[in-house]
Amino acid sequence: MDKDNLKDLPSLQWFPGHMKKAQRLIEENLKLVDVVIELLDARIPSSSANPMLAEIIKRKPRVVALNKADLADPAKTKAWIAYFKRQGVPAAAVDATKGRGLKQLVALTQELAKPKTDRFVNKGGKPRPARCMILGIPNVGKSSLINRLAGAAKAKTADKPGVTRAKQWIKVAGGMDLLDTPGILWPKFEDPVVGLKLAFTGAINDDIYDREQAAALLLEVLRRDYPERLQERFKFKGEMPEKGLELLEAVGRKRGCLVKGGIVDLEKAQTVVLNEFRAGKLGLVTLDAVPEDAKGGEA
Ligand code: G4P
Repeated sequence: MDKDNLKDLPSLQWFPGHMKKAQRLIEENLKLVDVVIELLDARIPSSSANPMLAEIIKRKPRVVALNKADLADPAKTKAWIAYFKRQGVPAAAVDATKGRGLKQLVALTQELAKPKTDRFVNKGGKPRPARCMILGIPNVGKSSLINRLAGAAKAKTADKPGVTRAKQWIKVAGGMDLLDTPGILWPKFEDPVVGLKLAFTGAINDDIYDREQAAALLLEVLRRDYPERLQERFKFKGEMPEKGLELLEAVGRKRGCLVKGGIVDLEKAQTVVLNEFRAGKLGLVTLDAVPEDAKGGEA
């Protein structure tokens, strides 16, 4: 699988030049496809979205795949899917590593491409599969999804006539052709809370964010939305501190992350919190709420 070298750049190095290049690469490939699959992290569906997606894809039909659904809160994933549907965007929950939800994703993609593929046949063309590409920010699971979809089709790839040799199409079971190179989008940077959520979920390199702030905010969000999990995991008895930093210190104490004199080693405590969250040990958690203007309740 070709990995775009943009992936290796820390998020803060998405300079305007990189963004322009990424956008141009996507725009070139957009001409080849009927549908785009926007890959989001089910734990942070709005924070993992690219702020300019609509502008980049223009009127190209879009289906949303909420990936890493195995780590997200199932009730909130359902609420997010309902939200996207209300916006006229079909959506499916997927787990790219285990291959869950892929049949539904393929079916939604085909359905969305149908007006285009039908029109093609009506004009005398031979029936052809829906053509699509995957778009998403780094680490959201694009390569995993492509590999999984390719695996399901025994990784058949073929050059398509009329398309530059570098473009490979993967024939996906169920009748879909997928570009094997995903479009890599930049994340939202402006909002620091979004940045920290991207950090918890591993979308941003470890060395470019304040891990203490990230762990503290994560604990605060968990305390607000999933207090019983926090209580259970770190064996808090009675009241838990309210502020993130105090929570972090308390977690450090519970886990014996101490230095001489019984002082909490905050760095160790941060690692405990972030690693356990990323490994799903704090339970299935979704950190982004469905936008308030949507009917159907808060996520
Ligand atoms: P990208 O191409 O969008 O940059 O993402 P990539 O597929 O490389 O996936 C990034 C990380 O997310 C990988 O973990 C991958 O295993 C994990 N991942 C992708 N999809 C899912 C999913 O549906 N559920 C879960 N739980 N994890 C998912 P990694 O730690 O970077 O590598 P590794 O653990 O696979 O070695």
